[in-house]
Amino acid sequence: MTVDTRAFRDALGCFPTGIAIMTTVNEANGPVGVTVNSFTSVSLRPPMILFCLDHGSRSLVDFRRCRNFVVNFLSESQRDLSNRFASKAEKPFEGVDFERSERGLPLFPGSLAYLECRVEALHPGGDHDIILGEVIGFKNPGNARPLLFYRGGYRLLDTEATA
Ligand SMILES: Cc1cc2nc3c(=O)[nH]c(=O)nc-3n(C[C@H](O)[C@H](O)[C@H](O)COP(=O)(O)O)c2cc1C
Repeated sequence: MTVDTRAFRDALGCFPTGIAIMTTVNEANGPVGVTVNSFTSVSLRPPMILFCLDHGSRSLVDFRRCRNFVVNFLSESQRDLSNRFASKAEKPFEGVDFERSERGLPLFPGSLAYLECRVEALHPGGDHDIILGEVIGFKNPGNARPLLFYRGGYRLLDTEATA
């Protein structure tokens, strides 16, 4: 089936999501990051998650060869960070406040939570790779509010479910 890509994206945009920046390191141990909303939890025992990475992403080569990566769940104060790691900026980490985990992976202070993962498998998914990770550590340090994505734009959580 061939689809109108614009119409398909609009349909997908009806599903609201959070936003994460996936980080790892390249061969020279330099930081690598990409903004995604394709994060999904997969399994509790063992703890597993996945995300999908576009074959056009410059970070594909690094995620294909890395052993570990981090999921940084973004809070509402991290919109600029989301934009920066969704851009084709030459040096997206330049001037950005980040720390390194014990394994040396980039973490963004102020994130809602961090999941440190070991790459379990790479699966083909059309024009994306499906990257499956086993969670080997996690922290959810803050009570900040999430940055959301819906119908092609950022959204903030402004109501709480009552039941
Ligand atoms: C809200 C949002 C969600 C995104 N989700 C994904 C995603 O799940 N997978 C992906 O490959 N790209 C996703 N992108 C696009 C990438 O962030 C963007 O193409 C990429 O960072 C471009 O730089 P790169 O070539 O260095 O990866 C998303 C962008 C935004 C703004």
